[in-house]
Amino acid sequence: MRERSKRTLAGGAIVAAASLALLLASCAGLSRPGKGAAYRNPGLSADERAADLLSRMTLEEKVGQMAQADRQFLESDEDIARYALGSILSGGGSAPGVNTAEGWADMYDGFQEIALSSRLGIPVIYGIDAVHGNNNVRGATIFPHQIGLGAAGDEDLVERIGRATAIEVAATGIDWNFAPCLAVPRDERWGRTYEGYGEEPGLVSRLGAAAVRGYQGGDLSDGKTILATAKHFIADGGTAGGRDRGDSKLSEEELRGIHLPPYVDSVAAGVGSAMTSYSSVNGAKMHGNGELVQGLLRGELGFSGFVVSDWAGLEELPGEYEDQIAAGINAGIDMVMIPEDYKRFIETTLGLVRSGAIPEARIDEAVSRILKAKFELALFERPFADRSLLSEVGSPEHRKLAREAVSKSVVVLKNGGILPLKADGLKNVLVTGPLADNLGAQCGGWTISWQGENGAVTEGTTILEALRSALGDGVTVYTSLKDAEGVKLDAAVAVIGERPYAEGRGDSRTLALPSSHIETVKNVKAAGIPLVTVLISGRPLIVTEAIDASDAFVAAWLPGTEGAGVADVLLGAVSPSGKLPVSWPRSVEQVPVNVGDAVYDPLFPFGYGLSW
Ligand code: GLC
Repeated sequence: MRERSKRTLAGGAIVAAASLALLLASCAGLSRPGKGAAYRNPGLSADERAADLLSRMTLEEKVGQMAQADRQFLESDEDIARYALGSILSGGGSAPGVNTAEGWADMYDGFQEIALSSRLGIPVIYGIDAVHGNNNVRGATIFPHQIGLGAAGDEDLVERIGRATAIEVAATGIDWNFAPCLAVPRDERWGRTYEGYGEEPGLVSRLGAAAVRGYQGGDLSDGKTILATAKHFIADGGTAGGRDRGDSKLSEEELRGIHLPPYVDSVAAGVGSAMTSYSSVNGAKMHGNGELVQGLLRGELGFSGFVVSDWAGLEELPGEYEDQIAAGINAGIDMVMIPEDYKRFIETTLGLVRSGAIPEARIDEAVSRILKAKFELALFERPFADRSLLSEVGSPEHRKLAREAVSKSVVVLKNGGILPLKADGLKNVLVTGPLADNLGAQCGGWTISWQGENGAVTEGTTILEALRSALGDGVTVYTSLKDAEGVKLDAAVAVIGERPYAEGRGDSRTLALPSSHIETVKNVKAAGIPLVTVLISGRPLIVTEAIDASDAFVAAWLPGTEGAGVADVLLGAVSPSGKLPVSWPRSVEQVPVNVGDAVYDPLFPFGYGLSW
């Protein structure tokens, strides 16, 4: 879970002021509107309902709607009503005490009960990063991270995964997904490369729009759909050196030719929200970049949803806190992912509006967009979790879909004639390597916790377990050369790769693996056993030595809980169709290397992948 910041909360004066303001509002005859109020009429349009509701709101209630707090930082759940908070989120790992789908639904419904008790009874919209399934929830189906789906390159598959994810998220009550990431990662040293579909704009555009369709469905109000988020606007994948939250130094042609197309297609697909990027474009931080947020995203692309900041993103802008809030909101950010000190944010923003630093018209515009999304999601009519969906969380059907996605994402980079392994010709097989039996590594970051972790983090099937099951009782599986001493081994599978990571903690200057991983491969090869090496990683790595030592080499990316999809390819149940969504560099010195470069000589080119 993200560390709580060290800042002490503002003094008691803030608490008194905000509570007093809301108390005054109710004393000033602003009573609770009756059931006949126009905004409570589902027969009116979302725009009409939002306009009526806005007209009834005090400035305090409006600013509250723009505030998004993480559940872990609520001083009291009652603050949801006390400050009329518009949104709650769970950042990576911010889970209820009982981390089951039902435990999440209980938490969500509890928050909504409180929100509905506020004067105007506005439900919260709850946001989460369900970036490869409802990945915070133990027992949920964990699909391949986006880079693997980029290798699969299948729009229909991505849309079906979006639908399944939407159902597993909606089952917990949650309404809003901070996905898809529309990054076009151009430098694999970036720790978030795996959150993108690939380096080629057209691929990212097609798959991003498919994800939006999957998450949002044909009707946001149907209870099995969730609001999607186009993120992180814009050019998060283009920073110099692949530095997370760095600066993308781009010509207008590069901005529009490489990083903009995915937003064009996602806006056309009706994406309901967008998130600004921590990174900068030509030195201008995106969280304060009105020219690109208001001018390009809204003006030129016609984006009509609401814009949310990233986690404490405004506090990375220049100046004092007041300057940061004013800059971000005036640049077009509608909802602020504070996410901790919501009282300070509300009090500061109220002061900025009263001083004229933020026009109230800007507040009204932001709140209207947020309310419209809530009406489109039918949150007023159906504020609570639909528990009939709970049985679909981690269901066999969804796991089958995930297994299909894994098998389609696997890219065979080398095959010295030993793949597919023929189970009926095998008696003794070695399955080894530090990631052979490591579900957490298979899933990668954004799994149960923000950074992910090694080991049995949730329910799923490791590659070792999958191979054991598929090879059957007739084959003895050994897990180390030591165990197999004196045994004639017919084949070996070595699984190596990256530890789990997320965001900047995955930034790499070398793209190298620990030498112990390479040694594992070389030791097996030295034993003279036909060897298939499987790489688990969020990106291409410089592993040429391991590739050279292997008879066959397979990139499996971050497959998630269904390791059987890898076994399906290795054992021939599925013919490999995965193609590289990113160029594979010869050396880290060659990075960045991308399809379309004037000089292009990677180890394996974009689109490469063997089949049989
Ligand atoms: C993070 C990420 C963003 C995510 C947000 C909420 O810092 O940049 O992708 O949606 O916080 O977890």
